[in-house]
Amino acid sequence: METEHFSFTLLHGDSTQLLQTLPDNSIDMIFADPPYFLSNGGISCKNGRMVCVDKGDWDKGGTPEHMYSFNKEWLTICHSKLKNDGAIWISGTYHNIFVVQRCLKELGYKILNYITWQKSDPAPNISCRYFTFSTELIIWARKSEKVPHVFNYDTMKQLNGNKQMTDVWKMPAVGLWEKSCGKHPTQKPLRLLYRIILASSNEGDTILDPFAGSCTTGIAANLLGRNFIGIDQCQDYLNIGLRRRNEIEDPAMAEKILRKMKENPSETMVLVNHTKQDTKKLMIEKGICYLRAGDTKGSLQITPGFERMQYVLLHSGGKDIQIFPLTQKGTFQIWTRETLEQNGFHPEHAPYYIVLHFDNLNELQIDSKINLSQRLNTYRAKIRPLSDFIGVN
Ligand SMILES: C[S@@+](CC[C@H](N)C(=O)[O-])C[C@H]1O[C@@H](n2cnc3c(N)ncnc32)[C@H](O)[C@@H]1O
Repeated sequence: METEHFSFTLLHGDSTQLLQTLPDNSIDMIFADPPYFLSNGGISCKNGRMVCVDKGDWDKGGTPEHMYSFNKEWLTICHSKLKNDGAIWISGTYHNIFVVQRCLKELGYKILNYITWQKSDPAPNISCRYFTFSTELIIWARKSEKVPHVFNYDTMKQLNGNKQMTDVWKMPAVGLWEKSCGKHPTQKPLRLLYRIILASSNEGDTILDPFAGSCTTGIAANLLGRNFIGIDQCQDYLNIGLRRRNEIEDPAMAEKILRKMKENPSETMVLVNHTKQDTKKLMIEKGICYLRAGDTKGSLQITPGFERMQYVLLHSGGKDIQIFPLTQKGTFQIWTRETLEQNGFHPEHAPYYIVLHFDNLNELQIDSKINLSQRLNTYRAKIRPLSDFIGVN
């Protein structure tokens, strides 16, 4: 993957001042993740511990008047920097998004969609006095009432299993794999930016992020062949961005990140296990499926996607395919070879096995045209999207 042809320009300082230095009508798309103004000493629960949710001084609550004037100012400048067919995406929560919407309307932007990002793994609500907050809103608007905007409709449809993509996007929060170069307290997931950039810009376009933070927008932009301009008032955050940019200089790393970014995290995952006919019968009878875990408990490696797994698909010799929902999504136990033997199985390869329990009463229908050209070793399993299998609902 070649990334060096696409520019990555960082400007350190206050957005409202630095935005003025950009030429008018020069930007194709803007993604902005401005302060939500919600760092007011709130608490949440992380890994079973109570933690303060404050993000930094830049996010401390302003008065309603300040929130309005702040958002109005940067959105005014962005309007003049966008090309006539340009578009802007702004993320927020109820704390700031309605103010942003008001400013957009006053400035003559045309609102195109309100995207709801539904977090598939929200932090629990420890007060138990409200519903758990699990969404963020992203407003998509274009500069002009009259000039059409870019929308790569077909690409979005294709990403969504050939169905029209809706305005609700289910995605997990930012993953550990995205934090290898340092942590930003409000980093956005690359998958979110991948979808936004792919939906509303073209290769070679220039994308601006006036509150760039760790430059998630820039990394997604460059990996997708777009130029990037990012502004942030905090040099430490921009340094994370620079390290992330350096990281994708390595073609293997760029390829890896691009692949993860493209994953559709809301897709149903299945564990495909090729078994011998006898073993398969036994598995169905007992409602369990097992795969090799490693030589010691410590060497167990769970591949990405495992936690999202919902079904087990068993087949032997390309025939008798059966798919079962897991009784508890993504849960498993580790058994020793002895335990498996006590249960009538005869594993050959390792002392420890992952054992999945499924509900053998609920079989799903599966099309007989399933692609079985890929023959796998009996005791290895692959986690694959359900859509890889033709005809499965
Ligand atoms: C919500 S975070 C953006 C995070 C970013 N999307 C990412 O993925 O890392 C907002 C950023 O805006 C920056 N910021 C806040 N007010 C600013 C201002 N007036 N000018 C420039 N940057 C500002 C903060 O330093 C913070 O990094």
